[in-house]
Amino acid sequence: TAGGVGATPAPGSPGTPGAAERAVAAFVRCHGARPAYLVRSPGRVNLIGEHTDYNGGLCLPVAIDLELCLAFSPSPRATSGHGFVEVLSEHRAAPARIGLPPPPPPEPGSPGRAGAAQSGWAGYVEGVVVMAASVAGAAASRGWYGTLASDLPLGAGLSSSAALELAVARACAVVWDTGWDPIGAARLAQRAENGWVGAATGLLDQIACAAATAGHALEIDFRDLTVTAVTVPDSVVVAVVDTGTRRELVTSAYAQRRAECERAAAGLGVASLRDLGDRLPADAARRLDPVALRRARHIVTENTRVRELADALRRADLPRAGAVLLDGHRSIRDDFEVSGPELDAAVEVCRNAPGCHGARMTGGGFAGCVIALVDADSAAGFARAVVGPYRRRTGRDAVIHRCVPVGGTS
Ligand code: ADP
Ligand code: GAL
Repeated sequence: TAGGVGATPAPGSPGTPGAAERAVAAFVRCHGARPAYLVRSPGRVNLIGEHTDYNGGLCLPVAIDLELCLAFSPSPRATSGHGFVEVLSEHRAAPARIGLPPPPPPEPGSPGRAGAAQSGWAGYVEGVVVMAASVAGAAASRGWYGTLASDLPLGAGLSSSAALELAVARACAVVWDTGWDPIGAARLAQRAENGWVGAATGLLDQIACAAATAGHALEIDFRDLTVTAVTVPDSVVVAVVDTGTRRELVTSAYAQRRAECERAAAGLGVASLRDLGDRLPADAARRLDPVALRRARHIVTENTRVRELADALRRADLPRAGAVLLDGHRSIRDDFEVSGPELDAAVEVCRNAPGCHGARMTGGGFAGCVIALVDADSAAGFARAVVGPYRRRTGRDAVIHRCVPVGGTS
């Protein structure tokens, strides 16, 4: 179970009700009955393979035991009028309410928010309902109502948004009887995020959340969306160090990095940086400007690191796994330039803490979380050794979650 250590009590700490319990309790309070269903949807960390998803590359995420839970019941079948989907979140005052049938999805390639009526968090719910309804057809007239609770910090790079999208997609799939294919659901959620919310992200978060296998990381090949489960030795935990910094992905330099990668690919005459294989062409420095060269070098070396880390985990070679993580951090910091002072400080503090094999920032970058591979029997000492030095360096309080790999949305 995820356990938090830090200056503030972390969700999932012993003695505090988990997200599932809170979601059900909120449902009973609001609706005076127990819910028919409970969806559990995990957050994720990416062990390695950062910014490679939209370059057709390789990633190695794990779903973590910090989760978002949605308690819901289908509405009685309407005898007249139209149904609606209504969701309440413990994190928000106003519910998301979407009338059925929802508007049609925007044409592919049209700008985000093309049809969005709701902004903020309700836009995620609406976007998924729109995309799911377009698949379900006439069945999507039946409404449902739910309450959600989440142990995932919002905007910390642990994919609270993908967890929310997949939970709503799962509920729609149950009520509209459309079946559940994790990769298909991940693509549907990504369409909602790109075409409705207006965040031009890749597919990493949604696949990790939807398709994860307990006890394993997922090696995802974004060229063909094949997914291979890689055992994470149970002698280690994935420590997630929340640096306390936040950044809104929608407004970040993410789109700029995507454009720089496209510029690099065009300069090297390939459709996608993945097509370069394991190394940059010998004349890359002549054909690219210095920024595009650094971006391309990160992507090419990062794809290799995904294979190296997967291999090290399979062999339970933890010193090697740790060295790959540290290399990955140097690359994302110096070549891709999406780290930040707090993330760098946290990596330095972690690598010197007892039981730590290696650490790196995880997710889109600039702010959020660092992950460390830590011997399970050193986890408590590790947490104590990180909190104080991190505060002295940055003036901030870190919250540390000891996570184990869990299965996908269920
Ligand atoms: P991340 O997915 O890394 O946490 P994002 O900025 O991509 O960060 O997504 C965070 C957004 O997702 C929130 O601002 C909110 O709109 C939505 N969200 C996620 N979880 C919840 C929740 N439990 N309740 C309401 N909104 C949520
Ligand atoms: C965000 C984004 C993902 C991926 C990641 C960087 O989490 O949603 O698609 O690009 O940044 O690896």
